[in-house]
Amino acid sequence: MKYAQIAGTGSYLPPRVVSNDMLAEELAGRGIETSDQWIVERTGIRQRHIAERGVTTSELATKAARQALEDAEATADEIDLIIVATSTPDFVFPSTACLVQGKLGSVGAAAFDVQAVCSGFVYALTTADSFIRAGRARCALVIGAEVFSSILDWSDRSTCVLFGDGAGAVVLRAADEPGIKAASLHADGSQMKILCAAGNVAYGQVTGDPFLRMDGQAVFKQAVTVLEKSARAVCEEAGVALDQVDWMIPHQANLRILNMLARKLGVPMEQVVVTLDRHANTSAASVPLALDVARREGRILPGQHVLMQGVGGGFTWGSVLARM
Ligand code: ACO
Repeated sequence: MKYAQIAGTGSYLPPRVVSNDMLAEELAGRGIETSDQWIVERTGIRQRHIAERGVTTSELATKAARQALEDAEATADEIDLIIVATSTPDFVFPSTACLVQGKLGSVGAAAFDVQAVCSGFVYALTTADSFIRAGRARCALVIGAEVFSSILDWSDRSTCVLFGDGAGAVVLRAADEPGIKAASLHADGSQMKILCAAGNVAYGQVTGDPFLRMDGQAVFKQAVTVLEKSARAVCEEAGVALDQVDWMIPHQANLRILNMLARKLGVPMEQVVVTLDRHANTSAASVPLALDVARREGRILPGQHVLMQGVGGGFTWGSVLARM
């Protein structure tokens, strides 16, 4: 068995839903002006799920993982690799993946985190695919999970309206047929400043700026350019024409980015999974969350080609083309 197939998916959203109007009212109380109209027109976001203070990424990740295991009819014992993509880990160490492993009881499975911000899930999926192809794992849990609300500057209206919390997971199993047909990952560290949370804990103190900062327009332009190029490259590698792609699941950052990307690639918006209106931008969780929602709504079906794409801080980007 030299390929990896997506055997199941799962997701979890914290129950508290914050609509744009609710957020605008909360911010107005602090003298910050925004509106549902501004947020919808500029981003397409209508609401987000926000975790209660104290809820951790590993808790969201574990709930999504359990659902993916159930969907794949897999047991925790079968899992021999757990990769969690996150930029909001519970701790400096141990990794969030180790915490998830402990909660699930998949004792002995390799477990580590991947940090590629909003590209994290496609990085993690590509890594797990490579482990399975190399024969180093047979059944992997790949999770994207974030509590991004914990790193937002709630006095910065240009960023705090954009994000939400959540988790998505897939079970990847060794198989005779692909599965994951092609993948491509990239980064350009010289652009770290356009999107970063450049703080740390050192010498017992927080150093630098722990909050997310972004040059929105620079990110916008970069995102459209790299996602278009990456989509074309991964389709070519897989030998799948763009018009044979049934569904695109780009990172859910902004509806205008998704519209522009679809137009450049000539893919109708009806074939682009959009969940950012409901979830906002959940960083590493956005792609697996959207995948799970679209599968459970009966839109993504077995045998279909799905193009998943991430882009975000680093600057990082990448794509994975999978046959479901
Ligand atoms: N409510 C009301 N007004 C606002 C808000 C807000 N929430 N945020 C910014 N504004 C104001 C600004 O202060 C500015 O006012 P001014 O003209 O008086 O100075 C005005 O709106 C325009 O601000 P811009 O930053 O130029 O707005 P823009 O049209 O670029 O939209 C946005 C901002 C939505 C962030 C856009 O740049 C964008 O979509 N960028 C893509 C980046 C993205 O989606 N990032 C998500 C995370 S990154 C990732 O996941 C890859």
